[in-house]
Amino acid sequence: MTILITGVAGFIGSHLASKMLSQNFNVIGIDNLNDYYSVNLKKYRLKQLNKFKNFTFIKADLSKALNLEKIIKKKKLSVICHLAAQAGVRYSITNPSIYLKYNIDGFLNILEYCRKYNTNLVYASSSSVYGANRKVPFSVNDDVSNPVSLYAVTKRSNELMAESYFNLYKLNSIGLRFFTVYGPMGRPDMAIWKFTESIINNKAIEVFNRGNLSRDFTYIDDIIDGVQKAIKLSKNKKFTKHRIYNLGNNSPVLLNTMIKLLEETIGKKAKKKLVSMQPGDVKKTFADIEKSKKELKFQPKTSLRQGLTKFVNWYKEYHKI
Ligand SMILES: NC(=O)c1ccc[n+]([C@@H]2O[C@H](COP(=O)([O-])OP(=O)(O)OC[C@H]3O[C@@H](n4cnc5c(N)ncnc54)[C@H](O)[C@@H]3O)[C@@H](O)[C@H]2O)c1
Repeated sequence: MTILITGVAGFIGSHLASKMLSQNFNVIGIDNLNDYYSVNLKKYRLKQLNKFKNFTFIKADLSKALNLEKIIKKKKLSVICHLAAQAGVRYSITNPSIYLKYNIDGFLNILEYCRKYNTNLVYASSSSVYGANRKVPFSVNDDVSNPVSLYAVTKRSNELMAESYFNLYKLNSIGLRFFTVYGPMGRPDMAIWKFTESIINNKAIEVFNRGNLSRDFTYIDDIIDGVQKAIKLSKNKKFTKHRIYNLGNNSPVLLNTMIKLLEETIGKKAKKKLVSMQPGDVKKTFADIEKSKKELKFQPKTSLRQGLTKFVNWYKEYHKI
């Protein structure tokens, strides 16, 4: 079985590829290696993947229509797992246009490829689609027409695009709403990385909304398990649908509690600079995973303390600390 993973040099894509390669799947990975954050980190992730003989990497920008057909047309794909996107809520406030290009044009090219070659699709959505919703936990049955960032708009648009391709062409797909994913080889623009870096280097951390925010932090191995279960479901002949699932830990943690756990893991106190709520941010994310449990058999297992320990150990090794 050959799977195409887009965004393969990214955090989630590289972990998924590594897992699938070690299980002897053939993986074709695409990434444009953009410099939203350290390109060296993306190359470091690719270096781990290049050790596998069953891995092929293609550097390409998926928002450019020409490339995709040329590159993968001849290869028979079992499934596409589309993770490439411009991520980050705050960056979408200052750089809105890149989100439309990467997240909308890129997604349309993937959908068109799937339609033409009848390929099942699993794609990344986000908890940010729940926007300013107050009712928690967030259920996939909730209304999601109240976005607070353009990033969220592009992710919700992806879901609607996938729904329309199912209605029009019976294209089967599964959208996964990820909730604050963290772990080794994670993203430097996310709080756990930034806080770890600042605590180790004796710099002040910026604590938004005085730490009075909650996030449903979800460990990378649990997410990969959920993605693999979605891939498996999409391959089932009886699966002829477009479905959306939450992949979250179902256990929100206050930012202040996360900082305390991180201080204990690193063995050092954080210097805190309390700042106000940022535009685009939401106060709480909390996944209702009943449907994911029932239909995907998704069950997160990693506590925040266990996950932070693994992240901090990796971070120190990566930076030779
Ligand atoms: N990490 C999280 O907490 C989280 C939460 C919700 C949703 N998501 C979504 O999950 C997916 C993976 O996230 P991640 O954390 O691994 O992000 P990431 O930024 O580490 O990975 C995304 C990768 O996609 C690549 N990419 C972006 N646009 C591209 C394009 N046009 N063509 C080719 N490659 C392109 C980037 O170079 C990057 O390597 C994204 O769709 C993201 O929006 C992530």
